[in-house]
Amino acid sequence: MSLNKEQVQELIQAARRVSGNSYSPYSGFKVGAALLGKSGRIYSGCNFENAAFGAGTCAERVALGAAVSAGEREFIALAVCGGDTPITPCGICRQALSEFGAMEVYCAALKGEETQKYSLLELLPQGFKLEV
Ligand code: THU
Repeated sequence: MSLNKEQVQELIQAARRVSGNSYSPYSGFKVGAALLGKSGRIYSGCNFENAAFGAGTCAERVALGAAVSAGEREFIALAVCGGDTPITPCGICRQALSEFGAMEVYCAALKGEETQKYSLLELLPQGFKLEV
């Protein structure tokens, strides 16, 4: 299922809105992410950093945690935004998202029209899977 233009804009707007809450005093780099679940609900998250650098978390995994905590495990699309030009999810976030299957990924900057569209599989081919 592919999103129409309005749905893409709504998801990017949700990501941009939550980026305003980013706690990023060390990098100064605000990121927002929004996940559209199969239920139709949108879950958003921002990055938060820590004086012990490794204790910070990316916006995408914050949004994913919010979604999973609400009982959502299947996703249609992710939007992520940060910086002056479109950003793509980091490697750890790609792996974390891939646990929950295929989805579209819309990458944007904090402002502006430019949007890049990928599939998660395209961003993370051959991701790690554990047979349980
Ligand atoms: N960051 C994200 O939240 N998502 C990304 O996709 C890339 C990086 C955050 C982590 C850190 O707080 C800041 O951006 C700079 O790396």
